Amino acid sequence: MKITKAKLLNPIWKIWYSYISNLDRKGEVTFLNYGYADDKNIEFKKEDEINRYSAQLYHHVVSSVKLYGLDVLEVGCGRGGGASYVAGCFVPKSVTGLDLCKESINFCKKHYFVKGLSFCQGDALNLPFADNNFDAVVNVESSHRYPDMEKFLKEVYRVLKTGGYFLFADLRDEQSIGTLREQLNNSNMKIIKEEVITPNVLKALELDHKRRIGLINKLVPKIFHSLTKEFAGTKETGLYKSFLTKKKEYLYYVLQKD
Ligand SMILES: C[S@@+](CC[C@H](N)C(=O)[O-])C[C@H]1O[C@@H](n2cnc3c(N)ncnc32)[C@H](O)[C@@H]1O
Repeated sequence: MKITKAKLLNPIWKIWYSYISNLDRKGEVTFLNYGYADDKNIEFKKEDEINRYSAQLYHHVVSSVKLYGLDVLEVGCGRGGGASYVAGCFVPKSVTGLDLCKESINFCKKHYFVKGLSFCQGDALNLPFADNNFDAVVNVESSHRYPDMEKFLKEVYRVLKTGGYFLFADLRDEQSIGTLREQLNNSNMKIIKEEVITPNVLKALELDHKRRIGLINKLVPKIFHSLTKEFAGTKETGLYKSFLTKKKEYLYYVLQKD
């Protein structure tokens, strides 16, 4: 098996997500993505306005498909903000949020009480569900951490019903974009939408910069500030610059199992 950067960094990120979960005792961090900004002015409930850009990323990712009355799985749900937003706003029959991080799932189970919304711990590469089980699988900013993308896509295909959708958004280094396209092409699912959304993600990071810095200053010990800023994609970081210089792109795809 090929040793990739994602494989090597996997144990470190697992520790990092657990650590973040332990720092946020008051449940202020419910999304862990870079966000999305465009000209649409979606109306949010007052309490959700604080997470506007991260929620808008979910809104953009799922709104290509009518989820009303459907069974939805989110793989890599993190601290559940996205799964809860989708459950409340798009009224599917059910949303199941799955994440590898036990602490995040424990948080989600205690924090959200939305009809049809549930959470479970599990691995994207070995989904604990029967074949042909979901109408849609959502995956936001999680797959770049997976040690085996092909295995994940096989699992998505397996748990989706015929006609079901894979709603997917994530970042890739410029040299891995071709590989991702090939992996999606070989997934047995049909690509029905493909967008580069890096400019929208950059705009969101710019507009959300102050809030992100505020949270880091409030929650994180000083010694971890620069690492957390990198993780949060704040303006002066390598991550932010790599989007600016197109060394990394943020991609959005909709696929369908036929
Ligand atoms: C950047 S966070 C994004 C979380 C969420 N999608 C959001 O937008 O707020 C990435 C998430 O992927 C999860 N993850 C990483 N590897 C995973 C795997 N193999 N199986 C399931 N979840 C995984 C991490 O635990 C983390 O919660």
